[in-house]
Amino acid sequence: MNAPWKAGTPGGRDPYQAYICDDAALDVLRPVVVEMGWAPEKCNKGGLRNAVLNDINALAEVCEPGTVVIAIGQVNDVRLYRDLLASGIHDYLLKPLQPAMLRDALVNAQAVFSAPKFADASAAKQHISTAVIGTRGGVGASTIATSLAWLFSAENKQPTALLDLDIHFGTGALSLDLEPGRGLTDAIENPSRIDGLFIERAMIRANDNLAILSAEAPINMPLMTDGAAFLQLEEEFRHAFEMTVIDLPRNMLINFPQLLADVNVIVIVTELTLAAARDTIRMLSWLKTNAQHAQVIVVANKVQPGVGEISKTDFESSIERRIDISVAYDLKSAANAAKLGKTFCEANRASKASVAVRDIAKAVMGASDVASEDGAAPAKKSLLGKIDLKSMLSKKSPATAPSAA
Ligand SMILES: Nc1ncnc2c1ncn2[C@@H]1O[C@H](COP(=O)(O)OP(=O)(O)O)[C@@H](O)[C@H]1O
Ligand SMILES: [Mg+2]
Repeated sequence: MNAPWKAGTPGGRDPYQAYICDDAALDVLRPVVVEMGWAPEKCNKGGLRNAVLNDINALAEVCEPGTVVIAIGQVNDVRLYRDLLASGIHDYLLKPLQPAMLRDALVNAQAVFSAPKFADASAAKQHISTAVIGTRGGVGASTIATSLAWLFSAENKQPTALLDLDIHFGTGALSLDLEPGRGLTDAIENPSRIDGLFIERAMIRANDNLAILSAEAPINMPLMTDGAAFLQLEEEFRHAFEMTVIDLPRNMLINFPQLLADVNVIVIVTELTLAAARDTIRMLSWLKTNAQHAQVIVVANKVQPGVGEISKTDFESSIERRIDISVAYDLKSAANAAKLGKTFCEANRASKASVAVRDIAKAVMGASDVASEDGAAPAKKSLLGKIDLKSMLSKKSPATAPSAA
């Protein structure tokens, strides 16, 4: 870390100052600075020595208020990056410096510096970030995520971001009849570019209050990321929107558990099957250890009383917790949404299933009021003896599972 950059006002402050330790980086910086119309003499040799975070605090003491600081370093570590952002650094560039990357960073910093300062007002605004996770594929997690985003944005008029993290097979854009664009792909490839301006440009508008970020990455292109882009996006969303909805495939949860660090509500969507019961148990237990701060809402989707693999009561006893909301199996509504290119709730305003999804939205919006209350009371202990999931799982045939009540 060795290049604090000082932006300036017309009132006599230098537009910038750079402190760079090595000649190679100085050689890249000088021509870019000249392009910006700034004096190259202000690129100083030297820098904050060694320790990164200790000196960040020292730096804050000598910077004039409003100074935008860009750090440069060679440590490629998400935690460091997050710590730097948290300590107020605007951006962190990795060595070796690339002129294009440097130019982008300087232009963005300048834009941030000259933008009207309404940051304080928006920071004070409450933000609810919700992750929707399916216990298995096809349970309807994306259906519910897009519907929640629509309800918050169109009905509640809250500025909402929908982040579809199913990078290859996401349906967030598709279900709203939109093209995903390159926004999310660009973000993953270039996390350091993510800021307010970037999300404004890269996100696709679905309605006046809903912006979505998703991708349809080619299936021969593996996901190459350390997750920094996702964290940075979450951070920017917190400033720019009131609600964030993350469609979070369960494999992403395994690869990037840090994604849940700042999430307020986690909606677990499940179906009432044996396999889903097993995975709900595993996920709830994982969340208990890794996301204690978040409120968990368990939703059973595609519920067909009397026909399911496991009854609701048996499911609840095996997961040792109540299902908070049940959404009926409703093929007609699902088909209608697909045909209209609208979310499940928008396409079927009055259907029973759609009303249940609205209840999820209400539960999310009420979540902040009951912050640490564990979402739902555990199922009555007396039921526990009646069903033994472990023994059911060890039996070969699922036909031996208790039938629906
Ligand atoms: N309550 C429901 N009743 C009937 N079909 C549903 C319901 N919820 C979702 N679906 C359908 O199930 C399929 C899978 O849903 P999707 O949201 O893509 O699941 P996931 O994201 O969990 O893989 C879609 O065709 C969707 O329309
Ligand atoms: Mg999905």
